[in-house]
Amino acid sequence: MNDVSLREQSIVLIGFMGVGKTTIGRAVAKKLYRDFVDIDEEIEKKFNMPPSEIFKEYGERTFRETEKEMIIHSCKQKLKIISVGGGAFLQDEIREACLSDCIIFFLDLSWDSWKERISLLIDSRPVLQGKNIDQIEKLFYDRQPIYEEHHSRVITDNLVVDEVADYIVDSLKTAWDIYEPNGK
Ligand code: S3P
Repeated sequence: MNDVSLREQSIVLIGFMGVGKTTIGRAVAKKLYRDFVDIDEEIEKKFNMPPSEIFKEYGERTFRETEKEMIIHSCKQKLKIISVGGGAFLQDEIREACLSDCIIFFLDLSWDSWKERISLLIDSRPVLQGKNIDQIEKLFYDRQPIYEEHHSRVITDNLVVDEVADYIVDSLKTAWDIYEPNGK
């Protein structure tokens, strides 16, 4: 754990692709008057192309290396709300950096709810391309253990963006008051 106070630590949102990390992250950032960092967007800016093109042009390995550098760098900054890609926690170094420097919220959406979104996601997510529904379901469940390393879980089924964001903000405020009652 670093020496940054709990109130100043950055918040990281994790979860399977398409659960709403970017949209919810933006809403949380607005409610807490913080800057929002979307790691996929940062990678996209660096390469000037979306992740699906980066996978094709440079390969997944380059994408994952860039993702690792950017997340580790962002985690060291204070007062950010950071959304990381659904595959980021596959890398031990990323998980460890986030766990030690930030407060991690896992956005937990059930498979049944997630699969209703599939048509919106399939074209932009290289990891889903070429897979049938059974293979995607397997990937969904295979990935769940990596998200178990978090500080707080939000079950997002049947909640709208604002409800999830409010839940995150309220639980942060509760934790800040309990663990740093004098505002430090
Ligand atoms: C990935 C998830 C994507 C993006 C890339 C790889 C993954 O982010 O980082 O396409 O391996 O799960 P989202 O979780 O924001 O979709």
